[in-house]
Amino acid sequence: MKIPEKTRLPRWAGVVIVGLLAVVVFLLGMFAVSIMEHRWEAQRPAIALRPVDEWETDNAVYGENYPREYDGYLKTEIDDTETMYGGAFPRDYLEEDPYQVILFAGYGFGEEYRQGRGHFHAIEDVTETKRIKKPVYAATCWTCKSPDVPRLMAQMGTKEFYGSNFHDLADEIVNPIGCRDCHDPESMKLVITRPALREAYAAQGRDIDEATHQEMRSLVCAQCHVEYYFLNDPAEGKKDYLTLPWVQGTSVDEMIAYYDGYGFSDYIHPISGTPIIKSQHPDYEVFSTGIHAYRNVACADCHMPYVAEGGMKVSDHHVQSPLLNISNSCAVCHRWTEDEIRDRIESIQSMCYDARMAAEDALVKAHFDVGAAVQSGASAQELSAIRTTLRHAQFKWDYIASNNGMGFHSPQEYLRIAGESRSQALEVRLLAARLLVEKGYADTPVYPDISTREKAWKVAGTFVDGNGVNLLSGQ
Ligand code: HEC
Ligand code: HEC
Ligand code: HEC
Ligand code: HEC
Repeated sequence: MKIPEKTRLPRWAGVVIVGLLAVVVFLLGMFAVSIMEHRWEAQRPAIALRPVDEWETDNAVYGENYPREYDGYLKTEIDDTETMYGGAFPRDYLEEDPYQVILFAGYGFGEEYRQGRGHFHAIEDVTETKRIKKPVYAATCWTCKSPDVPRLMAQMGTKEFYGSNFHDLADEIVNPIGCRDCHDPESMKLVITRPALREAYAAQGRDIDEATHQEMRSLVCAQCHVEYYFLNDPAEGKKDYLTLPWVQGTSVDEMIAYYDGYGFSDYIHPISGTPIIKSQHPDYEVFSTGIHAYRNVACADCHMPYVAEGGMKVSDHHVQSPLLNISNSCAVCHRWTEDEIRDRIESIQSMCYDARMAAEDALVKAHFDVGAAVQSGASAQELSAIRTTLRHAQFKWDYIASNNGMGFHSPQEYLRIAGESRSQALEVRLLAARLLVEKGYADTPVYPDISTREKAWKVAGTFVDGNGVNLLSGQ
C-alpha cells in the first residue's frame, strides 16, 4: 500500500531522527563508561592519584586515598561498647577480679590491668599505664602500638630499637596502630612489618613470604596478638629483644617446654617463691586450634567483614568485637538469627569463664598453701618440684586468661587448658598440705581476706615487703 504524500514525514526528518538516536546511543555509552571508571577510581584512586612515601605513617594521609577504610579505622576510637565479656571499654580487671592481684603480686599487672580498647588508643594507653612509669623502660613495649615502629627499626636497626629506653622514643612514636602496620604503602597489599613474627616463622623453618592470601588475613594480626617475651642475650647483642616462644610449636605445652629449657621467668612470686612466666594474649595461637582456623576462616573474616558501601565491597576497618556486628561478622556464613548467634557465643564464653574461675580459685589457694609451707620452714629443695608444678599451672591459666575473646576462638582447647591448670594447682595444694603436716602443722592455712582489690593489694603488699601475713596463725 502506498502511504499518502501528506502523512509521510519529509526525508530530512528521518535523517534527523537517525542522527538523534546515534547521539543518544553514544551518550549512553559514554555514561556507562564513566560509571565504570568512577567505580574503579573509587576503588583504587590512590595508585593513579596520590603516591605515598615508603615510610609514611600518618593514617590521615592514607585516608585521602582510601576514605572508606579510613572512616572505618577512625571508629576504633569508640570506647563505650560493652559486651558480656568484652567490647571496647577499659574494663578494670583487678577491680572485677581481685584474685588477679594475688596471682600477679609484686608484678606490674597486679597494680593495674585493664581490658584493651580499639587500635586508635594504642599510643595513649601504653603511655598512661602505671606499668611503664619507671624512668627507664624497654622501648620494646612500643612494638605493637604504632606504624612508626617499623619505620624507626628500618632507620635505627632492630636490635638498637629494642635496646633503647622507652621514653627516649616518645617524640618519634606518635601515630597509633594504622595502615602502614598491615599494608604496603604503594600496592596496599597485606605485609608483615614486625620482625618477631618473621623470625618466629624462620625459627620453625618456615618462610612467611609463602603465606597464602587467606593466611595473611590472620597473620597481619598475629604480628601483635601473640604470646611473646623479651630475650636478653649479650653474646648476640640482644637486649629486650622481642621474641615469640614458637621454636617447638605454639601450643601451651610446647611453650612451657621452651621456657623451661631456657630457664626463663618474668618474676618470682612473693607469696610462694615460684618463678612465674607472664603470658601475653596468645590470640593467634589459641585461635589456631579452633574450628574456624581448621575451616580456614581468618581473623579478618569476623573482625573486618566486608560491607557494601556505595555499591562496593570494602573491608570494615572498624576492628572490634564481632558481637557488635553479628550480621556482617557471622550471619554471612551461619544462617542463624542474630539472637541465636549471640546466645551461642555467650553460652560458650560463660562455660569457659566458669572453668577459668575454678582454676583461678585453686591457683590462688595454691600460692597461699606454698607460702604457708615456706613459713613453716620448708626448704627450697623441698619446694622445688612443687614450685615447678605451680609455675606450669599458672602459665596455663594465664595463657587462657590473657587470651582475648573468653574462649570463643577455641572452646575445646580453652577448657582443656583450664582443666589442666586446675588439676595441677590442686596437686600443688595436696603436696603443700603434706609438707605442712611433716613440719608439724596439721591445720589448714588461714587464708587472708582478698574479696576486694584494695584488700588484695594490702595482703600482696605485705609479702612484697618481705613481711607477709602469717598464714599459719592468721596473725
Ligand atoms: C569466627 C569468628 C572469629 C574469628 C575468625 C576471630 N575472632 Fe576474635 N572474637 C570473636 C568473638 C565472637 C569474640 C568475642 C567478642 C566479645 O566477647 O565481645 C572475639 C574477641 C576477640 C578479641 C577481644 C575483643 C573484645 O572486644 O573483647 C580480640 C582481640 C580478638 N578476638 C582477636 C582475634 C584475632 C587476632 C583473630 C585471629 C587470630 C580472631 N580474633 C579471629 C570472633 C572471631
Ligand atoms: C601493631 C600491632 C597490632 C596489630 C597489627 C593488630 N592489633 Fe589489635 N590490638 C593491638 C593493641 C595494642 C590493642 C589494644 C589497644 C589499647 O587498648 O589501647 C589491640 C586491640 C584489639 C581489639 C580490641 C578492641 C575492641 O574494640 O575490643 C581487637 C578486637 C583487635 N585488636 C583485633 C585485631 C585484629 C582482628 C587484627 C588484624 C586484622 C589486629 N587486631 C591487628 C595491637 C595490634
Ligand atoms: C590491622 C591491620 C590493618 C590495618 C591497621 C589497616 N588495614 Fe586495610 N586491610 C586489612 C585487611 C586484613 C584487609 C583485607 C585485605 C584482603 O583481603 O585482601 C584490608 C583491606 C584494605 C583495602 C582493600 C579494599 C578493602 O577495603 O578490602 C584498602 C584500600 C585498605 N585496607 C586501606 C587501609 C587504610 C587506608 C588503612 C589505615 C586507615 C588500613 N587499611 C588499615 C588490614 C588492615
Ligand atoms: C567465613 C565463614 C564463617 C564465618 C564468618 C563465621 N563462621 Fe562459624 N563456622 C564456619 C565453619 C566452616 C564452621 C565449621 C562447621 C561447619 O562446617 O559447618 C563454623 C563453626 C561454628 C560453630 C560451631 C563450632 C563447634 O564446633 O560447635 C559456631 C558456634 C560458630 N561457627 C559461630 C560463629 C560466630 C559466632 C561467628 C561470628 C562471630 C562465626 N561463626 C563466623 C564458618 C564461619
